[in-house]
Amino acid sequence: MRAEVEITGLGQSGEGIGRHEGLVLFVPGAVPGDRCLVVWEPGRKRMARARLLQVTQASPDREAPPCPAFGTCGGCQLQAIGYTRELQEKRRIVEDALQRIGHLDVDVPACIGPGEAYGYRAKVSWPIRRGPAGPLIGLFATQSHDVVEQDDCAVLAPALRSLPGLLRQGMLDFSLSAWDGREGLLRHAVARRARSGEIILTLVATAAEPRLRLLAERVMSALPEMVGVALSLHEGRGNRILGAPARMLAGAGEIEERILGLRFHIGPTSFFQVHPAAAERLFATVLDWAGPGEGTPALDLYTGVGVLALLLARAGYRVQGVEYAEEAVSFARRNAERNGLEAAFAVGDAEEAELPPPEALLTLDPPRGGAPRLAERLAAAGPRRVIYVSCDPATLARDAAVLVAGGYKVGRVQPFDLFPRTAHVETVAEFLR
Ligand SMILES: C[S@@+](CC[C@H](N)C(=O)[O-])C[C@H]1O[C@@H](n2cnc3c(N)ncnc32)[C@H](O)[C@@H]1O
Repeated sequence: MRAEVEITGLGQSGEGIGRHEGLVLFVPGAVPGDRCLVVWEPGRKRMARARLLQVTQASPDREAPPCPAFGTCGGCQLQAIGYTRELQEKRRIVEDALQRIGHLDVDVPACIGPGEAYGYRAKVSWPIRRGPAGPLIGLFATQSHDVVEQDDCAVLAPALRSLPGLLRQGMLDFSLSAWDGREGLLRHAVARRARSGEIILTLVATAAEPRLRLLAERVMSALPEMVGVALSLHEGRGNRILGAPARMLAGAGEIEERILGLRFHIGPTSFFQVHPAAAERLFATVLDWAGPGEGTPALDLYTGVGVLALLLARAGYRVQGVEYAEEAVSFARRNAERNGLEAAFAVGDAEEAELPPPEALLTLDPPRGGAPRLAERLAAAGPRRVIYVSCDPATLARDAAVLVAGGYKVGRVQPFDLFPRTAHVETVAEFLR
């Protein structure tokens, strides 16, 4: 089937949305405001994924993507859209999800953007795969496990851009093989940079091959900002990036990032936001909504290395943080000491954490799957104030509906763009009993 359609919005994965005789068409690469010729498999009744054949009339919001790999590489979905329109669409995606999935009518305010839409990405996981002429190091193509190499990735922090080339050359020089899906040594490289300039790298490999140390030393001497290179062993199948807890091959095992005046030490594999400057605005909003603590108890679930927990502790809350990654918890404890703040951190499953008393503040920042079990437990016996930081509007909307059915009302909602040029959008939502 083919038709010319008008693109009226963006879907959750960044595809353009058009309509044809009652059928909703999701068109990757199409921009809201475009008219385009698209083709799709016949037989679909309500929705179909369509291929963009030709833009017949370009949207005024269409712009030339700076990255030559855009369209092939799965890293970014929105480089062809003007950034102002991207922010407008992200706001709408949050409002639509709350309405369509959560059946909640909320006026969502403008999405807060970070200022820089390129060159911001401070964390990256590059898959390493065997290619016809040596190792391929890049990002996965859209909906595929083919690796697209792009040494000048436009969203990546410039200081990280030389790493794939360095690793590729090192692998050739030291005869280190790449994973082919069944065998091979190196399968991923995970890099993180702090605004202090420090970089830490984790090599994910199937064996503790001694020549990996040569590669680590090569990278350390080529990049003066590289403070350490770690190894995570991962022999198994499956798509998980990291394997066993990281151990150091060379250098030091942490870098320092500052958030709103606090110092956070981050390990090679701990979670930390990809756009620290944008994340600061989000954390400032949570602090503003939380208000002064004055000794009020606070439970910060999915606490990572303790960023929000320690910001709340500084604001006067008596904080307990829960996180299941042991490495992150040990950094959270050390981060409390380094900042001269008191907070208790426990290793555990946030979904099963003991709920605090009614007067407490509960904050949660789960991964994309949200917190369905926790939402049910909060609906039954949660405290009066909950602030939910979400990286997926659909799971936020699902969990919000459960909270509202359990007696909460939705307070303020604020979307943030922490991942410009990609389809990701972050939301902070307040729930009050
Ligand atoms: C989106 S991150 C948020 C981290 C932190 N709030 C921050 O901004 O730096 C989610 C965190 O939850 C942790 N996590 C995921 N599932 C969990 C669970 N069931 N219980 C506890 N922690 C979990 C991850 O290890 C990760 O550190």
